Amino acid sequence: MTEFIKRRQQFADSMLDNSMAIFPANQELTRSNDTEFRFRQNSDFYYLCGFNEPDACLLLIKQDAQLTTVLFNRKKDKTAEIWHGYRMGQAEAINTLAVDQAYVIDEFESKLSELLVGIENLYYPTLSGFALDQSLEKVLNGLRSQSRSGVISTNQFLDWRPALHEMRLFKSEAEQAIMRKAGVISALGHVRAMQQCQPGMFEFQLQLEVEYEFARQGTRDVAYNSIVAGGNNACILHYTENDQVLQDGDLVLIDAGAEYQGYAGDITRTFPVNGRFSEEQATIYQLVLDCQLLALALVKPGISVLEINQQVVTKMTEDLLALGLLKGDLSSLLEEQAYRAFYMHGLGHPIGLDVHDVGNTGTIKSPRALQAGMAITIEPGLYISQDADVDDRWKGIGVRIEDDVIVTETGCEILTSAVPKEIKAIEALMNG
Ligand code: GLY
Ligand code: MN
Ligand code: MN
Repeated sequence: MTEFIKRRQQFADSMLDNSMAIFPANQELTRSNDTEFRFRQNSDFYYLCGFNEPDACLLLIKQDAQLTTVLFNRKKDKTAEIWHGYRMGQAEAINTLAVDQAYVIDEFESKLSELLVGIENLYYPTLSGFALDQSLEKVLNGLRSQSRSGVISTNQFLDWRPALHEMRLFKSEAEQAIMRKAGVISALGHVRAMQQCQPGMFEFQLQLEVEYEFARQGTRDVAYNSIVAGGNNACILHYTENDQVLQDGDLVLIDAGAEYQGYAGDITRTFPVNGRFSEEQATIYQLVLDCQLLALALVKPGISVLEINQQVVTKMTEDLLALGLLKGDLSSLLEEQAYRAFYMHGLGHPIGLDVHDVGNTGTIKSPRALQAGMAITIEPGLYISQDADVDDRWKGIGVRIEDDVIVTETGCEILTSAVPKEIKAIEALMNG
């Protein structure tokens, strides 16, 4: 709880006086008729209070430089709890979540009208389509209509995302400890996949081997839909059908990560379905691995991901030219970004509570330099699909190698090295 209290205070320090910030929780999403998808909390809300129920809302109110924290959540309800499960309720929320006040969410509009009196600045994520938008509009219109009788109503709207997401970009010690665990558990899932993989399995069967290990290691959610892509399917970047049979002689690309205490792991490994790389597979794989190792060696404060990627694509282009997969002269190939035919995504992204985490990383024209405490992925790939304009022997080879790192003062700490990526080590694991 000290961690959450610290975060709220840190955000409040950035707020103007006489202001309120509203952070809505997520709602449940219908799967069919009266059954719902498994609930996943809104990451910003979770970051500030760690509360995992739907239909809630957190307010930070700053008046005379004093912070008051208010939670709205579902009321205790015997029948609902018998049918659907435990609800924390208001009294327990004040104890457990260290908020100053807690009210039943059904009273949101009337209570908010009271709390907003005298509040001049309102922080809210504009144009985000939260279910709360309509209630908020109703309350604000109600207050405006009273302005002639002296009620001071909110006159400035601000968005809390820039300040909050800047905080989320830098991982505290507590967050780093959780992310280390997410990294190890995610890695062990990939180890199990390498051990269990057999030609003839469905991709979804291998997917469940990965996810079974996540559960065995104590985490029940994936951080995103797992990608298990045999052969040419690896060339579909966000392939999630996972419904094909894994073929002897093909590679399989697995991009899967566990979510541990809300934090994502995000690992990709690519390995031969039958446990032995062919010559062409080994060649492309080693090329991608060399690029990934180069990138990892460059990660440190002061350099941007885009600058690291510049060095990666230079090496990649040289290697593709040497193999005859690209033809021409190096400088014009680099100029026209010819590698994009085979490597069409970025080098990596921030990672945290969201797998593609929030935070300002700059623009293409002015990318932001890395700083200690940021967490990012490093994930180069090469995808040579069946319809690529190359010699047949390279077709159907798709490789991505992805690890998660935390930037340190002098370089980076790799969180996901508990699963091998060297060719010899993968073959030894699969055959041993
Ligand atoms: N798993 C999505 C990504 O690697 O970015
Ligand atoms: Mn990934
Ligand atoms: Mn990723």
